[in-house]
Amino acid sequence: MAKSFHPKVYITREIPDAGIRLLKDKGYNVVVYHYDSPVPLKEFSGHVKDADAIISLLSDRIDAQLIDNMKNCKIIANYAVGYNNIDIEYAKKKNIIVTNTPDALTDSTADLTLALVLACARRIIEAEKFIRNGHFKGWKPKLFLGIELKNKVFGILGGGRIGTAVAVRAKAFGANIVYFSRRKSSQIEESTGAKKTSLDTLLKTSDFISIHLPLTEKTYHLLNKEKLSLMKKTSILINTARGEVVDEKTLIKLLKQRKIGGAGFDVFENEPDINPELLKLENVVALPHIGSATVEARIQMALLAAENVVSILSGKKAITPVP
Ligand code: GLV
Ligand code: GLV
Repeated sequence: MAKSFHPKVYITREIPDAGIRLLKDKGYNVVVYHYDSPVPLKEFSGHVKDADAIISLLSDRIDAQLIDNMKNCKIIANYAVGYNNIDIEYAKKKNIIVTNTPDALTDSTADLTLALVLACARRIIEAEKFIRNGHFKGWKPKLFLGIELKNKVFGILGGGRIGTAVAVRAKAFGANIVYFSRRKSSQIEESTGAKKTSLDTLLKTSDFISIHLPLTEKTYHLLNKEKLSLMKKTSILINTARGEVVDEKTLIKLLKQRKIGGAGFDVFENEPDINPELLKLENVVALPHIGSATVEARIQMALLAAENVVSILSGKKAITPVP
């Protein structure tokens, strides 16, 4: 049978069934890497040779060498909003479309960001450990004092979908929103009255700072020593975007010296390796990259990735090509 009737779609991990079913219903030859660990490079290289489409994870590094192996591939559908794991320029040169899953995980990631904000502001993890360790001997006037969001300055790095969704939530808690972005963002301004500021002003004035920028050459270590040193002693930094946007070593040093109030991490510079120094700090809350980990988001991500594949393999345009 002519191959073109049964395009091969290679998926590097089991994603929610909704997405896989959509592809199988089209009669596609769907091949899934079924183990719960990253696909070994050798196996990945072998499969991409004759794949017409690939659905990849943010943890799959897709470089020029791997792309050179893709002889039939028309689309790499990344099962993530971020796509720094893919050599976009090279894929483009090889006429391979790259798509991501924006929108699908906006609310999920924004919810988790607020969970980290509150966990840091109210010292939830410290307090929970305290009670489990049998230390709770009764109510005390100064036990685990935290801070409120009301009337605080909440600084958002990035005026995109996730940044806006976080701003809406922070505003509901009574915070005043400022944001830093290369471009003016009507969506964040109109939905929250957020004011655009310079990066330095945001860092100097914010009580909470939350990162919602993609990782690019320009945002790599955007928060370096010089920038992190501008933060207030009491302020709390949250990162649910990409670890590499922050110089993690310097951040850990400042947290240790209590030159920064606290930090909530869902992403790390050398994921999945976590700097052991970070886990020793009490003013830190660390999560294993679960921003998009809701049933709702993951189903939408699977459907959107699959729909992008179907669109391209049917000769139509991608639904959500990367910018
Ligand atoms: C999560 O980090 C994503 O980019 O989807
Ligand atoms: C993407 O950058 C987003 O904020 O959804």
